[in-house]
Amino acid sequence: MNDNPLEILSPKECTIRILELSGVAFEPAIAADLWLNILKHKWLLSEKLERDVGLRTACIDFLENLEQVPDENTNPPRGNFLKEMGAQTISGDLWDTISDSQPPKQLVQRRIIQPLMEEGLSLKHGVVPPKAIVFFGPPGTGKTHFVKAIAGVLSWRYIEVVPSMLMADGVEKIGANLRNVMEEARNLNEVVLFIDEFEEIAGSRDMADRIDKSITNEFLKQIPLLKERQNKILLVCATNYIRDLDAAMLRPGRFDCIIPVGGLDNDGRATILRHYLSKLNTGQVDLNSLVKMTSGFTPADIEYLFQQVAHYAFEQELASKNDFLVTTETFIHVAPTVQPSLSREVLEEFEKDRISYARV
Ligand SMILES: Nc1ncnc2c1ncn2[C@@H]1O[C@H](COP(=O)(O)OP(=O)(O)OP(=O)(O)O)[C@@H](O)[C@H]1O
Ligand SMILES: [Mg+2]
Repeated sequence: MNDNPLEILSPKECTIRILELSGVAFEPAIAADLWLNILKHKWLLSEKLERDVGLRTACIDFLENLEQVPDENTNPPRGNFLKEMGAQTISGDLWDTISDSQPPKQLVQRRIIQPLMEEGLSLKHGVVPPKAIVFFGPPGTGKTHFVKAIAGVLSWRYIEVVPSMLMADGVEKIGANLRNVMEEARNLNEVVLFIDEFEEIAGSRDMADRIDKSITNEFLKQIPLLKERQNKILLVCATNYIRDLDAAMLRPGRFDCIIPVGGLDNDGRATILRHYLSKLNTGQVDLNSLVKMTSGFTPADIEYLFQQVAHYAFEQELASKNDFLVTTETFIHVAPTVQPSLSREVLEEFEKDRISYARV
């Protein structure tokens, strides 16, 4: 499939498109192709007519104004980098699947989204919009979901880096691959760069071997380089093991915020339950009973519960050949097979981490 729409346009169609979209920001890779097409056309026409049809003016203009062109737009392979890294566009609706009461939604709204969206006001009051943040918390609490939702609400692209991607060329190359990714990433604009399982590349150097230490050192070097740039990029790192991170990584000045992502309250669970209920073939379901039944559940546990319920309903209907409606009783029957992840011990440890590490 041809995924660059400009490759199939004739020079005339290209020109019409430019006129229509004049002033609209293009993806760098698309813009590069677009102008290449036009220049090619000018050149071919000049050759054919044996007179200059604007090629000379375009070239002189290019040479004279090269410095004024933002760096990120002069390097078309950047589009390839976005592609290589699997950059995604996330729907703004994802933000609404998170209840206002679910920590840290309001905090993220105040500290991250508003300063990034209200640039003028931030500047006026000397608020420095965040460039690098950390999310930490037990597995399945919704850290990745939050990061995607932030990208969606900002209308920025989302790029996810997992340490295993950096290991593709062997352990010795992790540092170099990390440097390459960070060098490319810091030239991007309007991108949320998400590094999951952050402890893998930023673990404490006290316990680490030579390679691990060099990776952590590389990352320590990369954060200030990213932060000094003026472009719109938000680095978000997530970990389940905040205690394992190198102390230097967590010092003020590196990350703007270190944000705990913990358990859900009743409202938080109700919002997620409603979301997953809408995907089932339901009869009478009492939401309050479900909220009570799912105390200590993470979003991942809730999702798993709904998968179990969906399978159960499917099998019931397959066997009986009658329309099977999921009711409160179905949940009462299935819920005991799913254990809540947030036991008292897990929550106590998380609370200790929150006190020791959170910085918002
Ligand atoms: N507010 C929400 N509404 C609906 N589904 C959600 C919500 N938050 C999280 N989920 C779902 O719950 C699952 C777990 O969430 P997520 O992967 O974000 O957790 P996590 O904290 O990143 O987990 P891990 O630490 O294992 O990486 C995902 O499938 C996600 O889509
Ligand atoms: Mg995750």
